[in-house]
Amino acid sequence: MNVLLLGSGGRENAFARQISLSQRCKKLFIAPGNPGTANYGQNIAIAATDFKGLKQFVLENAINIVIVGPEAPLVEGIFDYFINDDTLKSIPVIGPSQLGAMLEGSKAFSKAFMIRHQIPTAAYQEFTEENIAEGISYIANQTPPIVLKADGLAAGKGVLICTSIEEAQIEFRNMLGGKFGSAGNKVVIEEFMSGIEYSVFVLSDGNNYKILPVAKDYKRIGEGDTGLNTGGMGAVSPPPFVTPSMMERVEQEVIIPTIEGLKKDNITYKGFIYIGLMNTPGDVPKVVEYNCRMGDPETQVVLPRITSDFLDLMEHTAQETLDKAELTISEEAAVTVILASGGYPEEFEKGYEISGIEKIKDALVFHAGTQIKEGKLVNSGGRVLAVTALDKDWLKALEKSNVAAETIQFQHKYYRRDIGFDLK
Ligand code: AMP
Ligand code: GLY
Repeated sequence: MNVLLLGSGGRENAFARQISLSQRCKKLFIAPGNPGTANYGQNIAIAATDFKGLKQFVLENAINIVIVGPEAPLVEGIFDYFINDDTLKSIPVIGPSQLGAMLEGSKAFSKAFMIRHQIPTAAYQEFTEENIAEGISYIANQTPPIVLKADGLAAGKGVLICTSIEEAQIEFRNMLGGKFGSAGNKVVIEEFMSGIEYSVFVLSDGNNYKILPVAKDYKRIGEGDTGLNTGGMGAVSPPPFVTPSMMERVEQEVIIPTIEGLKKDNITYKGFIYIGLMNTPGDVPKVVEYNCRMGDPETQVVLPRITSDFLDLMEHTAQETLDKAELTISEEAAVTVILASGGYPEEFEKGYEISGIEKIKDALVFHAGTQIKEGKLVNSGGRVLAVTALDKDWLKALEKSNVAAETIQFQHKYYRRDIGFDLK
């Protein structure tokens, strides 16, 4: 098969590796890719949202399947673009339709979906400029902390957890006043859920589904989960606190109603569903959010644990035969640690040379924000590399990923040394 993978982060580097391991992969192209994906296929200089550019490339290079990494092309409708084009419609796109991607693209849409299909989640109300006064009085009747969410995509920054009614009312007005641009034209106000978070990944062909390895990511910049939110500073799979009986509940109460709900609503969905869950008191799972793609950096621990043929899984998804697909998962635990540019998620400097990757024997190194400049590998993004270690002994995996994180060098390198250690 000739495969086109879309995206350019650490997640896509992990996808590229997994695809290249498949017996069935003839050629792999990544648009636009990064220096890490170039180790597994050929990068092409087309943006993941340049549908016209992608169309031309797909047709000229006899691409058999398109696998979408990030949310932007999905929310912009790449699935529908292919289906509605006579020359492209026979080429499957792994990812939901534009309507399905709204599970991530609109908080109000996803909350309404969950309520409609009795999927457990926090109670909520939605407000716009039109009923701002109602929103203010709704907030006055809540018990803090109060969760405010901009409806649309806000680069992962559109959720505020306010510790007082006054703060929530001020931030609510700010959001409707454009703090997050048009993403905040509608605001969801939500009940606060306490508990520990974890992420369940489901692959759906629209009818059948497969549950991929469960993971937990670490969103805050500082050790001990302190400081600003980031895209994710590390991840583990499986999180040791997730028991088989918890997963059984998730399957019955969340996954099956989600797949059935998509069917009932006639929402075409052939792709990954990322279900962010809160383990609330009594091990009751409640949905925090849906994403229409795999997580980053969770993919860097989820995919390396899959030992069966990944392209086979993708093809079964496209053909709606996932019930016949083989999915085997390694007993090994995986831990990934993100090496970030010092200063991230605020201002940081780029262009520092990265050294030591060639010394890493005991871990996988995925590129996220790197670039080749004048023949040298340098940092070019906030999250620079993800180092993933696998081991049957969970603690050994933690140690190996830390050793690898220490070995790789660049100026102002920052990483959390506590990823996974809190779960010991
Ligand atoms: P979201 O973009 O909806 O995933 O929210 C971002 C983060 O905010 C989540 O990963 C949670 O840590 C936190 N969060 C969102 N909603 C809630 C809630 N209802 N209760 C507690 N924490 C929440
Ligand atoms: N790791 C969080 C995300 O991918 O959204």
